[in-house]
Amino acid sequence: MTAQLIDGNALSKQLRTEVATRAQALKAKGVTPGLAVLLVGDNPASQVYVRNKVKACEDSGLHSVLERYEATMTEAELLARVQALNNDPSIHGILVQLPLPEHIDAQKVIEAISPAKDVDGFHIASAGALMTGMPGFWPCTPYGCMKMLESIGYDLKGKYAVVIGRSNIVGKPMALMLLQKDATVTVCHSRTQDLKALTLQADVIVAAVGKRNVLTADMVKPGVVVLDVGMNRNDEGKLCGDVDFDSVKEVAGYITPVPGGVGPMTITMLLVNTLEAAERASK
Ligand code: GUN
Repeated sequence: MTAQLIDGNALSKQLRTEVATRAQALKAKGVTPGLAVLLVGDNPASQVYVRNKVKACEDSGLHSVLERYEATMTEAELLARVQALNNDPSIHGILVQLPLPEHIDAQKVIEAISPAKDVDGFHIASAGALMTGMPGFWPCTPYGCMKMLESIGYDLKGKYAVVIGRSNIVGKPMALMLLQKDATVTVCHSRTQDLKALTLQADVIVAAVGKRNVLTADMVKPGVVVLDVGMNRNDEGKLCGDVDFDSVKEVAGYITPVPGGVGPMTITMLLVNTLEAAERASK
């Protein structure tokens, strides 16, 4: 059996077209959705990420501002910038790119962002809203995974989902989103005793560890849906996920590739959240 691919590029294109249409409608009412992206320091990966985020905004008709600061910026200075953006009516979403330099308390900065503008979904108010099923912003990567499941018409009710990885950004929010759709969810991590025993029972597996070959063909049952959040390099320097794609695709029913799977969905959901923030602000 060869799994069907869930194409993150194609789905992103479709969702970004919808974002562009809704952005046009808002503009007609005199509101241009605006995202501020703050980058402190010169982390090369972060520079690529923020450039991609700003470009995606432009392509979908969203206004974006990229603010770049020296690594020597103080925490107080950054907090002051966040506060100013909280009060800026032309900005509906604020994203502080992580990681921040060590002398800045990242959590303190995230908590300084107004929850109404927390389009990353990292604020504790956003986490609390997700946990209790209240309106808020969902973190973009797990939100994108949910959209991928929706795109194949997958009904999670009563299904068994295994999430591998327990980060605040992916694993934990992913588990809550799956639970909200009535899946039975297990969160596995580095201390899980028998990962294979659990993944073998799973109808859906989300791999979000940041390590190659965490999931191999002998660990999955036929027809399983596999979402690969990993972004790693193999020995040849090629981009690869957490899943042993070549073997698992022979057993799975659906699988996301890397690249071209979950990756593009993260930025797409950032656009969706920013648009949503602007729509809420304009009501
Ligand atoms: N660094 C890596 N990924 C992300 C992300 O999704 N949001 C922010 N703010 N920083 C990141």
